[in-house]
Amino acid sequence: MNVNKSLGEFIKGIPKAELHLHIEGTLEPELMFELAKRNNIKIRQNSIQELRDAYHFNNLQEFLDIYYEGASVLITEQDFYDMTWAYIEKAHSQNVLHAEIFFDPQTHTNRGISFDTVINGIHRTLDDAEAKFGITSKLIPCFLRDVDPKSAMETLNQACAYKNWITAFGLDSAEVGNPPSKFKEVFKSALDKGFLTVAHAGEEGPAEYVWEAINLLKVSRIDHGNHSMDDETLVKHLSKTQIPLTVCPLSNLKLKVVKSLEDHPLKKMMKSGLLVTLNSDDPAYFGGYVNENYLVLAESLALTIEEISQLAKNSFLASFLDENEKEIIIKKIEEYNISFHSK
Ligand code: ADE
Ligand code: ZN
Repeated sequence: MNVNKSLGEFIKGIPKAELHLHIEGTLEPELMFELAKRNNIKIRQNSIQELRDAYHFNNLQEFLDIYYEGASVLITEQDFYDMTWAYIEKAHSQNVLHAEIFFDPQTHTNRGISFDTVINGIHRTLDDAEAKFGITSKLIPCFLRDVDPKSAMETLNQACAYKNWITAFGLDSAEVGNPPSKFKEVFKSALDKGFLTVAHAGEEGPAEYVWEAINLLKVSRIDHGNHSMDDETLVKHLSKTQIPLTVCPLSNLKLKVVKSLEDHPLKKMMKSGLLVTLNSDDPAYFGGYVNENYLVLAESLALTIEEISQLAKNSFLASFLDENEKEIIIKKIEEYNISFHSK
């Protein structure tokens, strides 16, 4: 039996949730050019290939500059619908049964697109995704941490009109120099209004930022969290509390958070008892959707079928689904394991 082939098949078929996915990061160059044409917007690069060739980054900021530029082709509700639908089709093809999706409202409101346009487009897709494919989802608007917290507070107030559609608030964008403490009041207000919270922390920033996200922002999950591994006390805390980390291997590689996938801390995280999940972050920019993230890491770290299966289970355990829903899907994964092994 070809081990890699069967590993690939196992990964492809196993039910998964995706918990760290920026919808603007799913905008593939082909659709970006189509939307640019539709909206009469000029893209700096002259072709899809030229655009793809620009996707080489030395750090998070170099990526963010290109990513925000790419988002400028999104104007109408239909544009947000089309972008989100393209992701849903991809997710369906990869057996993603549940997705908790980030979007960056300020990236759009700062250039005159209303919060309503953005959320209506995305939400309409998610309704259709459930009706057509049975894919369930949660929505997580993120505050931009390199922008004034006053703007985050305005965003939170706008979002309150859509309370039923929003599960949690997140924190993303340029990390170093923008610690979670800067957003303590905004997150307190979100928590008081009954929302959950998550935050990118320890991607480029230090373990101290992960502590701040936990202690000041009261997060239910840490997005990335790689630098948690630099602090033994923090690792013990994450293991004890089971606060999940949403890890993104190809993103880490492309943004030079890790030198190589062989150096990725995922296995060490699992051995330390952390609740880790695998995700694609911004798949259109980093060269792979969730299955590719599983596959490259499985190959680089020699993950076993049992470890892959645990990661898939973790993706649901760490999700914002209710306990009953989690139990049902964990059983499905166990059945999948048995049927795969008996093939
Ligand atoms: N926004 C989109 N992708 C991001 C990442 N990997 N880190 C921080 N902000 C982001
Ligand atoms: Zn991210």
